[in-house]
Amino acid sequence: MKRRVIGVLVVLLSLAASSRTVRGDDVLRRVEELAKQVTPQVIEWRRDFHSNPELSNREVRTGRVVAERLREIGVDEIKTGVAHNGVVALIRGKKPGPTVALRADMDALPIQEETGLPFASKNPGVMHACGHDSHTAMLLGAAKVLVQMRDQIPGTGKLIFQPAEEGVPPGEEGGARLMIKEGVLDNPKVPAIFGLHVNPNLETGKLAYRLGGLMASVDRFTIKITGKQSHAAMPWQGVDPIVASAHIITAVQTIASRKIDARQPGVVSICIIKAGTAWNIIPREVVMEGTIRSHDLDVRNKAAEEFKRIVSQTAAANGVKAQIAFEDYGPVTWNDPELGKKTFASLVRAAGEKNVLETQPVMGGEDFAHYAQKVPGFYIFLGVRNESIGAVHALHTPKLLLDEAAFPLGVKAHCLMALDYLRREAGK
Ligand code: NI
Repeated sequence: MKRRVIGVLVVLLSLAASSRTVRGDDVLRRVEELAKQVTPQVIEWRRDFHSNPELSNREVRTGRVVAERLREIGVDEIKTGVAHNGVVALIRGKKPGPTVALRADMDALPIQEETGLPFASKNPGVMHACGHDSHTAMLLGAAKVLVQMRDQIPGTGKLIFQPAEEGVPPGEEGGARLMIKEGVLDNPKVPAIFGLHVNPNLETGKLAYRLGGLMASVDRFTIKITGKQSHAAMPWQGVDPIVASAHIITAVQTIASRKIDARQPGVVSICIIKAGTAWNIIPREVVMEGTIRSHDLDVRNKAAEEFKRIVSQTAAANGVKAQIAFEDYGPVTWNDPELGKKTFASLVRAAGEKNVLETQPVMGGEDFAHYAQKVPGFYIFLGVRNESIGAVHALHTPKLLLDEAAFPLGVKAHCLMALDYLRREAGK
């Protein structure tokens, strides 16, 4: 008897489980089918953005085209001009539920493209060398899929097309910070946000994730060293800022090697040095710029404090003046572990279990971090590497190629992360 009761229970439970799976699979099948249908358009949209790249806070055309596409797609609400050129769209599901945000960035970089692609950049010196063209196109693709699935959406999807991810021109505001300031996470309130970045180190067909810190905190610094100009032949009559800068550059290397806890990642890089006007004049001034990266607030603070001390005291020892300016670009991109654990299943559904990899923390930064400081966020990598077509070059380089065959997975990942979140939260 007891055995029979257990037997019946097992049957009932497995029926319940299978009906859940059937419903789940239905959504998956629908997403797969619609993502496949929209792929030619995603490729076309991406190539158009790629041909017409625009720098941070200058994405006027991109923002306009995004809004036009969203109108054609038939989303429920479009807000333009957010954080200058940003666009925010709402897709309202037919069932009640919470809101979830998906974010893509839209800006390009000051790089002269060398891909030789038929749809290469038409703007000299400007290139979509970080794949934001594909991010924007894939999120438009996700919009088109979700609009056709309104009857299966419990709640609202908020699609954020963000300008100026790469950093704003001096003296301007922009990017995620300004979008948040202008209320992108309110009305309706966003309790979770997802995003993705193409990754040329990862094969097409794969997704990579990490719980906790994914990308580094980023500080940008400028150092102005002032000495006294003199004839190259009579250095004792001046104070040489170039020799002083050489000492400073060498001295700051000890921050990573001797000051930061060796078990924690931290990088200090000087990337710009500007000085001099002639081969026989010792100049008055040297300007250096660079960045400090870390994955921990204590490391970040320690590195910044050591940096200021070492630079100013090495300058003093060399008889020059040092002015140091710090600009905080963004904190660690923190993937909420609880949200990440729950979303893992969506990644597996999108890519298949063997194609979802855990990644190491990376030292690149991402201003998605600002959203993830305000609400639980989860940011993943989409593989776009394909050696057979030469899609092997790094981001931020002039030969970057993306494997467009990766785009349907990007669309699927967006849709499933959002849909699964809404269904999970609405079902609570
Ligand atoms: Ni990027």
